[in-house]
Amino acid sequence: MPHPLTPGDLAKSIAARRACDYVEDGMKVGLGTGSTAAFMVRHLGQLVADGLRVTCVPTSARTGALARSVGLQVVTLDEARWLDLTIDGADEFDRDFNLIKGGGGALLHEKIVAAASERMVVIADPSKRVETLGAFPLPVEAVAFGLQSTRAAIAEILASADVLNRSVTLRMEDDAPYATDEGNRILDLDLGRIGDARRLSIQLNQIPGVVENGLFCDLCDIVVVGHPDGRIELR
Ligand code: 5RP
Repeated sequence: MPHPLTPGDLAKSIAARRACDYVEDGMKVGLGTGSTAAFMVRHLGQLVADGLRVTCVPTSARTGALARSVGLQVVTLDEARWLDLTIDGADEFDRDFNLIKGGGGALLHEKIVAAASERMVVIADPSKRVETLGAFPLPVEAVAFGLQSTRAAIAEILASADVLNRSVTLRMEDDAPYATDEGNRILDLDLGRIGDARRLSIQLNQIPGVVENGLFCDLCDIVVVGHPDGRIELR
């Protein structure tokens, strides 16, 4: 017997299915990472089994494995070159469609794929909507070499940034530093509130050891919010 979905998962799956309506035959589609995106990948697999033709670029090794397992045709971004659409989850979104992403550690590939796409559709449950970004810790992908220097440079920027908290934590997994698909580290920044997301994003990316940060500004076009009672909000 399959387990019934929790209300949160129901909301995610409703948003994921609705977002697949944006996928048209022949499109090249970016596939996000995370539990909400996984619902979308599985639904896309069903649509492909019913005859839809799409070419997909996953944003992580685990999304790629899931996509192949449900019968999707997977290529690299270099093979696809550009994408019609990317559908991805988010950790937070605000009224201007600025996002925090990277809770699942895939922010670098997610941002590259989103930037190569005509449109980015974010799928979310209502808990992801915020007035101001920052309650969710901001992930920053940094190279392992010189990580302490990179961390110190981040602390220096945070000292004068418009944020509430300023703690920086190295993400761990199984008692070892978490490694991204590119072999980099993730520093999670507990900021509480981010007053100027665009400015902070630019400042963080100027630090030599920082590869990318989880603030997505001017990338998201549409947010599909699913509710556990079946309602859908399009923003
Ligand atoms: C992964 C991400 C995810 O989209 C984000 O963490 C949301 O995940 P979930 O859908 O599981 O809540 O950015 O890097």
